[in-house]
Amino acid sequence: MDMDERILRGRVLRFLRRPEGVGDTAAFELFDDGAVHVRDGLIAWVGDFAQAPAGIAVTDHRPHLITAGFIDAHIHFPQGQITASWGAQLLDWLNTYTFPAETAFADPAHAARMATAFYDLLLRNGTTTASAFCSVHPASVEAYFAEGQKRGMRMLGGKVLMDRNAPAALLDTPQTAHDDSAALIARWHGRGRALYAISPRFALTSTPAQMEAAGALIAAHPECHVQTHLSENTDEIALACALYPEARGYLDIYDRYGMLGPKALLGHAIHLTEAERDRIAETGSHAVHCPTSNFFLGSGLFDEAALAARGATSAIATDIGAGMSWSMLRTGGAAYAVAQLQKRSLDPFTAFWWITRGNAEVLGLADRIGTLQPGSEADLVVLNSHATPDLALRMEAARDLKDELFALLILGDDRVVAETYVAGKASKPA
Ligand code: GUN
Ligand code: ZN
Repeated sequence: MDMDERILRGRVLRFLRRPEGVGDTAAFELFDDGAVHVRDGLIAWVGDFAQAPAGIAVTDHRPHLITAGFIDAHIHFPQGQITASWGAQLLDWLNTYTFPAETAFADPAHAARMATAFYDLLLRNGTTTASAFCSVHPASVEAYFAEGQKRGMRMLGGKVLMDRNAPAALLDTPQTAHDDSAALIARWHGRGRALYAISPRFALTSTPAQMEAAGALIAAHPECHVQTHLSENTDEIALACALYPEARGYLDIYDRYGMLGPKALLGHAIHLTEAERDRIAETGSHAVHCPTSNFFLGSGLFDEAALAARGATSAIATDIGAGMSWSMLRTGGAAYAVAQLQKRSLDPFTAFWWITRGNAEVLGLADRIGTLQPGSEADLVVLNSHATPDLALRMEAARDLKDELFALLILGDDRVVAETYVAGKASKPA
């Protein structure tokens, strides 16, 4: 078989580590006339185009910017149709919009149709990896991973576990939650590029018996990620603590059932005590910043710096359908706005690192995605900084890469994505 290879030419940007501020230019490499040699789905080589191996077909993306594909660390597969649903904070929003929408995912045909739309939107926005909550129904997980496999994408996800405080059509039991998840892990984890994430929705929708079952599942499957929601909304916290009176606080509920650790992704994690931040750091768990969602539901401001000060690393995510955009650029821009309200300044390099390599590191996948290092998987995005009139006008006055990246974060979205490569193949939907 002929090798499937190609050289992508453009301005190539890759991050080596988290930038320590806007002046930390050693944290990344920029090849002004750069080349990415992709071969058999992997990155074979990155460098100056002048040094690239000869005799290989070239796709010329100049003057566009080529970076690692975006990674969305927290998204809800069944919520594509409830984005922009008016007028509620978390608990009302779940009851009014979310649960009814998720009920429809019992139907495999609906789930399959939604999966097509979901992956089209991810790729249109330059997102090449996401970690998704599916619905309670195994059929939704089947549709989610089957479509991801079709597209060749590195995707994480799992069936939500929920056995109380939701409509009957959305409830499993401790036993079915365990057995269905175990069967889905056996079927999907490590198949192609799929990775399974054990997904107890949150403390409010799981009985202690189900949390027990989730803990057993997690202990039996240390290869799997674990994702849930934590301390997003003050009413939610009060209810969680009332439902688990023996716990010292919300995080402690998850701690007691063995859910914390380096594979644990704790969505939102806004209203934390100092002790909870310490415990997140101590267990190596990760919070997930969902800035547009936290604005949309009025949930509050995630404090990344307070966790980082303790050595805890956090991911960043859209949280569609409470999120206001599918774009990780917009999401990075919103994280900038959150930091502004905290009298901090999130610099554009750190924001770009976060939506690519930073999220890959939190997911424990930096050896495979997010870095543009040779041997890693060739998931890339090609960005056109002049794609819209407002960007073109701004770019006339942009002086450097910092200005350009910041303009992309604040003004960019799917319109700036010229192409998305998945495992070396151009994959942006027409
Ligand atoms: N907490 C529990 N479920 C959800 C959800 O679907 N979205 C958000 N934003 N928070 C949650
Ligand atoms: Zn969520």
